[in-house]
Amino acid sequence: MSRRIQLFCCRVEKKPRDTVLILVSCFARIHPPEFFKKKYAVDEVHYVNEISSVLSSKKPAVLLTLRGVNTDSGNVSKEASFEGISQFNVNNKILHPEIAECRVIKTDMELEVLRYTNKISSEAHKEVMKAVKAGIKEYEMESLFQHYCYARGGMRHTSYTCICGSGENSSVLHYGHAGAPNDRTIEDGDLCLFDMGGEYYCYGSDITCTFPANGKFTPDQRAIYEAVLKSSWAVMKAVKPGVAWPDMHRLADRVHLEELTKIGILKGNVDDMVKVHLGAIFMPHGLGHLLGIDVHDVGGYPEGVERIDLPGLRSLRTARSLEQGMVLTIEPGIYFIDHLLDQALHDPAQSCFINNDVLQRFRGFGGVRIEDDIAVTASGMELLTCVPRTVEEIEAFMAEGQSGAKSFDCLSSQKQ
Ligand code: GLY
Ligand code: MN
Ligand code: MN
Repeated sequence: MSRRIQLFCCRVEKKPRDTVLILVSCFARIHPPEFFKKKYAVDEVHYVNEISSVLSSKKPAVLLTLRGVNTDSGNVSKEASFEGISQFNVNNKILHPEIAECRVIKTDMELEVLRYTNKISSEAHKEVMKAVKAGIKEYEMESLFQHYCYARGGMRHTSYTCICGSGENSSVLHYGHAGAPNDRTIEDGDLCLFDMGGEYYCYGSDITCTFPANGKFTPDQRAIYEAVLKSSWAVMKAVKPGVAWPDMHRLADRVHLEELTKIGILKGNVDDMVKVHLGAIFMPHGLGHLLGIDVHDVGGYPEGVERIDLPGLRSLRTARSLEQGMVLTIEPGIYFIDHLLDQALHDPAQSCFINNDVLQRFRGFGGVRIEDDIAVTASGMELLTCVPRTVEEIEAFMAEGQSGAKSFDCLSSQKQ
């Protein structure tokens, strides 16, 4: 008969935002240390109440503990402690930058998990695209996404609070928070901007799909959507080791400005628009960020890499040059945000490029973001996300979805 005893164990539970330590009291069979050694591929496993004696027996010159500031959130990681630690020489400075660097470059096993989170989350996004229709609440789509991730992929958590903006809400960058909890009723003619990612074994995904609630883009929706898709593909084509991430942001901005000029919202010389940072009016966030155990992963600004204090660029969560093994999001967007548009119209240096008559048509339009997750390879990148991306793919997929069929060939969306 198996021996069951009262077990107190410390378990790390990953929550959407923070890693928290939970003391779990449970009545369970204890796995032997060998089990955990194999499961986590570590050299040694000991019980918590043996920490002090085991470490003493090794006579360490120094114990390294993890303390440091997360350059993205500003949070300070809480270093480990245990009874008896005062007898050791403890250094809490060396480890943090080393661990951050380990997290920036993914191992093959980490990449495998990230491919999985992307696969399941992509499927969940497609489930949502098939189910969306006028009259339902944004949170119903959030709930469907979460249900699919958990029921079909064993992904209990999402990497962040789902952003399910419809209509004008699609221009609210972090919509979906407690003050605006995805509670609008979706209407016919709305664009939906759904930014959602499931998490597995603490590894996240971060995917945004933008599509019309009724399955058919209007000419204006198509024009803005295709402008963003063009910048996404331009960046994907340029990504490879050695490329500076801020240059990718500048590239996306430039494509947006060129396309907005073709649409007629802007007029004039694009080089001159770049000089007055007009791109940041339409994309007031960074192009993308490192992704991994945190959705906005650590290591974006190691010593020697400085934040660029300019509109748009200052929002980048990393200014590093790309290296093989990095995993990032590419998430360009064009948004029509009244207060930013009014700010530009009141600035003669920027307003001279704006056709206000045409812009009026886009007031209340909302926004478009297209967000994919990629891994940097030796010569370019691997696209981890697999969802319908072109207007034609989205419209065909949604039409098929509504009729009950559901075919979508991922390869066709990667023709950049
Ligand atoms: N979902 C948050 C972000 O895209 O960064
Ligand atoms: Mn993101
Ligand atoms: Mn996102």
